[in-house]
Amino acid sequence: MRRIVVRRPGGRSALELLEEKDPVPGRGQVRVRTAAAGVNFADVIVREGYYEAAKNLYPMTPGFEFAGTVDALGPDCGSSFKEGDRVFGFTRFGGYASAQIADPGRLRPLPDSWDFADGAAVPAVHLTAYHALFKVAHVQPGDTVLVHSAAGGVGSALSQQAKIAGARAVGVVGSQAKAQAALAAGAESVVSRGSHLWEDIDRAAPEGLDAIFDANGVTTLRPGFKRLRPGGRLVVYGFAEIMPRGRRPWLPELAWNWLRVPRFSPLEMTSSNRAVMGFNVVFLTDKAELAKEGFDAVARWMREGRLKKAPVSRFPLEETAQAHAALESGKTVGKLVLTF
Ligand SMILES: NC(=O)c1ccc[n+]([C@@H]2O[C@H](COP(=O)([O-])OP(=O)(O)OC[C@H]3O[C@@H](n4cnc5c(N)ncnc54)[C@H](OP(=O)(O)O)[C@@H]3O)[C@@H](O)[C@H]2O)c1
Repeated sequence: MRRIVVRRPGGRSALELLEEKDPVPGRGQVRVRTAAAGVNFADVIVREGYYEAAKNLYPMTPGFEFAGTVDALGPDCGSSFKEGDRVFGFTRFGGYASAQIADPGRLRPLPDSWDFADGAAVPAVHLTAYHALFKVAHVQPGDTVLVHSAAGGVGSALSQQAKIAGARAVGVVGSQAKAQAALAAGAESVVSRGSHLWEDIDRAAPEGLDAIFDANGVTTLRPGFKRLRPGGRLVVYGFAEIMPRGRRPWLPELAWNWLRVPRFSPLEMTSSNRAVMGFNVVFLTDKAELAKEGFDAVARWMREGRLKKAPVSRFPLEETAQAHAALESGKTVGKLVLTF
């Protein structure tokens, strides 16, 4: 098999392509011949060595999701899958590899109308969105929610699922060029980040916000918190702004940006009746029941035609570094996928 390995955290040159023997599925496992693997912003942070759950795992293969065909079954792996089945799935690292050893619980059948690249684009962003909306923020029908980076991977998934939940999403995008993608994903209205950002948000949601989903992590948290209605929830799930766009960070810059992350006091939250919450979906890999609930819902919406395919940009595995460069630029819309 071919896989990308990061021996030591670093820049894009740390993404090394290796060729090795195929792994053999153990008891209760299946092997999937990967056709496509999703690329996530978190993979860049893993590559740089700042991803908490990846510390001490190097040398390692990044990647949280893939789609392909089951091509070998280990002993006692039950009857849920057979050789030749088209599947998509999630993994705690290791996705950038042409063969995956998987627990069948982390796989779902890929509907015929979805190709592998479309399927590989689903698990990470949609499990994140499901967890954020339904398990953390408990969004209700009729709620108004604000979704930052609404044309990106998780942002598009949040807007789509907010609509499924009966909520109304106001999307924020980094440039006007991304507005159409955010609307197509399900945002009811879109505002562009710029000097009038908060006036535009006030116009789009004059009654305030029931929930905000923010992976910028620095400049938008404090003004967002102020716009929450009583009982509103600010859900923080990333800190993209700590990284400079399009280039590697230098350490003093990271430290400075880390210091700029606002701190919210429990006193402030209690007296204003607003909450700040955070989560990392990678830990769902240890919570089988919770992951199953989200994955079942997402797979059902795909079968029922309720989940739209994200716009997907494809990169051959050999061009993984270019895929990372594109994500680091902050200019992409939808999802990036490696093809094998
Ligand atoms: N906590 C969790 O469980 C979890 C799970 C998945 C992802 N995440 C986080 O969610 C965020 C989105 O992930 P994604 O994979 O779906 O990526 P993405 O949204 O497709 O791309 C990242 C977007 O972030 C915005 N951005 C803000 N500051 C940036 C910077 N300094 N450099 C580059 N982009 C910047 C850009 O959009 P605009 O300019 O349009 O705002 C960019 O397009 C990331 O921060 C990721 O770490 C968290």
